[in-house]
Amino acid sequence: TEHFFRGLALSGKKVLITAGPTYEALDPVRFIGNHSSGKMGFALAEAFYLNGASVDLVTGPTQLQTNYSGINVTKVSSAEQMYEKCSIIFPSAHIAVMSAAVADYKPIEVAPEKIKKTTEDLTIRLSKTKDILKSLGEQKKKGQLLVGFALETNNEREYALKKMQTKNTDMIVLNSLRDKNAGFGHDTNKVTIFDKEGNEFALDLASKQNIATDIVNIIIQKINA
Ligand code: CTP
Ligand code: CA
Repeated sequence: TEHFFRGLALSGKKVLITAGPTYEALDPVRFIGNHSSGKMGFALAEAFYLNGASVDLVTGPTQLQTNYSGINVTKVSSAEQMYEKCSIIFPSAHIAVMSAAVADYKPIEVAPEKIKKTTEDLTIRLSKTKDILKSLGEQKKKGQLLVGFALETNNEREYALKKMQTKNTDMIVLNSLRDKNAGFGHDTNKVTIFDKEGNEFALDLASKQNIATDIVNIIIQKINA
C-alpha cells in the first residue's frame, strides 16, 4: 500500500497528460525520435495526482516509471498512437496538458524489412504528423482547460503566444533553452507561462517537480477563479 498525502483541490477532476518523445518507424529496427526524457510530463502527472485528480498519462518511449500506482499510464510509440489514445480520453477530461515532444514528421513509407545499405545517398520522404494539441483545441468544449508547451530558440514570446492562439489553448508553457540547465534530459527547467487572459508567469530555474507544482497551482487558481 502507498502512504502519502493527497490533497483535494482537484478531486473529481480528470486530467490528461502527454509525455516523452514519439518514435516514427523507418523500418522494423529504426526510427526517427528526439531526446525528450519525459521528466516534465511525469512530474506533472504526479503533481496533479497528489492534488487529488484522476490522471491519465499517455507517454512515448521513456525509461521513467511513476511511484504512484493510481496514475493511469498508457505507453505509446508513434505520434499516431498518441493521437488515437488522446482522442479517446480527451472528451471526458477536465484538464489536458500536452508536454510530449511529438515528432512533427514521420516517414511516408515504413519499409517492411530492414533497409539495406546500397546507394551513397539515401533520401527519406517525410509527411507531417497529426498535431494532437491542435486537434484537441478544435474539439475543446466549454469548461475544458487545455495547456500546451512551446519549445522555441528565437522570437520565443511571439511564437509561444501564436501557438496559444492557433491551437486554441488556455495556457502555454514556454520552455526557455537560454539556460544551459534547462530542457531536454535535465532535471531542471526554466519556463514562462502565458494564459489567454494576458497574464504572464516567469518562473525561476527549478526542478521539474517544482515547475510541475507551480503549473498545477496556477491551474488550480484558474479553476477556482
Ligand atoms: N504537439 C502535438 N502534436 C504534434 C506536435 C506538437 O500535440 N504533432 C504539441 C506539443 O506537445 C506541445 C505543442 O504542440 O504542447 C507545441 O509543440 P512545438 O513542437 O513547440 O510546436 P509545433 O506546433 O510542433 O511547431 P514547431 O515545432 O514548428 O515550432
Ligand atoms: Ca514541433
